[in-house]
Amino acid sequence: MNQFPANDHPDQGSALTDVTRVAAMRQRNAHLMSAAALACLDKASVGIDQILNDVPERDQQLFRIRLARWFQNLYDGLLPVYGRRDDFDLFMQKLVRCMAAYHVERSDELKGLDIERDLEADWFQHETMLGYVFYVEQFADKLDGVQDHIDYLQEIGASYVHLMKVMQSRDGENDGGYAVTDYRKVAPALGTNDDLEALCSTLRSRGISVCIDLVLNHCAREHPWAKAAQAGDERYQQYFYMFDDRTLPDAYERTLPEVFPEFAPGNFTLDPDSGKWVWTTFNHFQWDLNWSNPDVFLEIVEIMFELANLGVEVFRLDAVAFMWKRMGTDSQNQEEVFDLMQALRTCSRITTPAVAHKAEAIVAPDDLIRYFGVGRHHGKVSNIAYHNSLMVQYWSALASRDTRLMTQALSEFPRTPNSIAWGTYIRCHDDIGWAIADDDAAAVGLDGHAHRQFLSSFYAGDFPGSFARGGVFQLNAATGDRRINGTLASLAGLEQALEWGDGELISLAIERILLGHALVCGFGGLPLIYMGDEIGLRNDYAYAQNAEYASDSRWMHRPAMDWQLLEHRHDTDTIEGRLYQGFQRIIKTRRQTPQLCARYDTDILDTDHAHVFAIANRHPLGTLACVYNFTETTQRLSIEPLMESGIVELFDKLTTRPVVITDGFMDLAPYARLWLT
Ligand code: GLC
Repeated sequence: MNQFPANDHPDQGSALTDVTRVAAMRQRNAHLMSAAALACLDKASVGIDQILNDVPERDQQLFRIRLARWFQNLYDGLLPVYGRRDDFDLFMQKLVRCMAAYHVERSDELKGLDIERDLEADWFQHETMLGYVFYVEQFADKLDGVQDHIDYLQEIGASYVHLMKVMQSRDGENDGGYAVTDYRKVAPALGTNDDLEALCSTLRSRGISVCIDLVLNHCAREHPWAKAAQAGDERYQQYFYMFDDRTLPDAYERTLPEVFPEFAPGNFTLDPDSGKWVWTTFNHFQWDLNWSNPDVFLEIVEIMFELANLGVEVFRLDAVAFMWKRMGTDSQNQEEVFDLMQALRTCSRITTPAVAHKAEAIVAPDDLIRYFGVGRHHGKVSNIAYHNSLMVQYWSALASRDTRLMTQALSEFPRTPNSIAWGTYIRCHDDIGWAIADDDAAAVGLDGHAHRQFLSSFYAGDFPGSFARGGVFQLNAATGDRRINGTLASLAGLEQALEWGDGELISLAIERILLGHALVCGFGGLPLIYMGDEIGLRNDYAYAQNAEYASDSRWMHRPAMDWQLLEHRHDTDTIEGRLYQGFQRIIKTRRQTPQLCARYDTDILDTDHAHVFAIANRHPLGTLACVYNFTETTQRLSIEPLMESGIVELFDKLTTRPVVITDGFMDLAPYARLWLT
């Protein structure tokens, strides 16, 4: 239940306009706020003085300045979604009071960080940033166990950790923790909220920001909101999409895709308690939240602030594409999703400015770019978004030994605002879906469907000559689509090579893995490394013996950290050592390469070569060109496209050696990766 009712006595307390400094700021920056937004702010901020009274005047002032500075973005996000409701003003008043209250509760340390981030809004874009992603239970058992491994996190250069499955999820099947039963409570098996707060604080003191998931599209059917709805509470039934019969579900179903066609066919589930059909896009135990209800917005905002006040610095906004439903569409990427995300981000900017938002939207390129905001949302939607296409194209080029599709698809991406960062990754805790557009495939003479089928067979390991060891996830009988499970090492050939005991194949697999690390670390985004990929952890088939994991084969590529194997990391006679040292070189070089700051543009270069992929990272100090050979054979590349892109010297920062040029060509070793200035 929302804790911040609107002020019952609007005549008590002064409106924000009474505060002269803020009024003056507004006057100076009249362009920041329309008359309508200003009127709304005045009404909405009635009574916040009493709330703010509890903090020093300087804090109050900062809050007011931020509110005035960003209110237009908040208003513009919320008006299209809730503006037609009679209670819109009341809703805005509740929201502003909620923001003020959580600002008051925020610790001095975090308020200090807020100021730092106000001044350094590009903190997550720096070339020194490196993300490390893990399930707490697979890395250190519990949250306080993570404390024991901070030295290691620092050693690898992590400045950001994404901790998974942190908040309490349902017992038994829980979609890897994405079926949350309590957004405000740490999963008891991992520790307490105090443990989370302590961990965030220690990590922060060592230069590492904590990211956790905020699952926006759904909660578990065991969440108290859902339980109340099951029991017939009409207020809570409005938190979900519940239908008396199949009429509307059937109508929606005509245009809805299937996310988990094997686990959970269809998008609606009959709830036996209420007798209603509930919208369940993912599993039957994950109930979609009804974001057209402003109470849902207020609930989530409070949760977000509460977690931010524990010290969380990045929210991974899970499954955001699905947050708005529209009849006759696939109910993904609807315009309201971007309004809501803009509003959520603005709430953080005003109340907890240290916090950044990362969008998890695994959608086609044209839609993906919208998660940074296009048109009226430009630059206002999220700070970071996963670059799903880069990931898919790495795997596609690796299998086909052909980079033309990669070059084509990535060149088509529109420019991003310079305030954002792509989350670049080679794989994550999820399966890989072959998000390859038919148009892109056709542009390079491929049939999209056939190519996607090829990739599935290749990575399932059943295509002749494949080096991969993966598993099929969710065969879709209607489309024939098969997604793929597997760790980086197993998909890139290490598992097979070890099984065959073939040293040459092992070396090739190592090179493929390092190619992947170099690609995501050299793309000018925020690289997100999945735990264990730095030492080549392979598939964990034992997941099938674990009752909690057995039903979800994605656990195959979420192995526990092998701390013993990790001991080999400094020994270059071992596979782990070769991988780790190669990875470290990439990370260290990245930290010293300002061109890799995400703020600057990345251009895809046309190398006119079917096996080589190249990009140019632009920077006032000069361009950095990254060149990658996607084959196991040596390739000759003309240096002309590189020279045209502005490279003068052809000095490779990764090997710290100049490139040898013969007759205008350079030789690229198998799976070579060069970062040229
Ligand atoms: C996100 C998560 C995935 C989960 C899905 C539904 O895509 O990454 O693991 O299955 O959301 O919650």
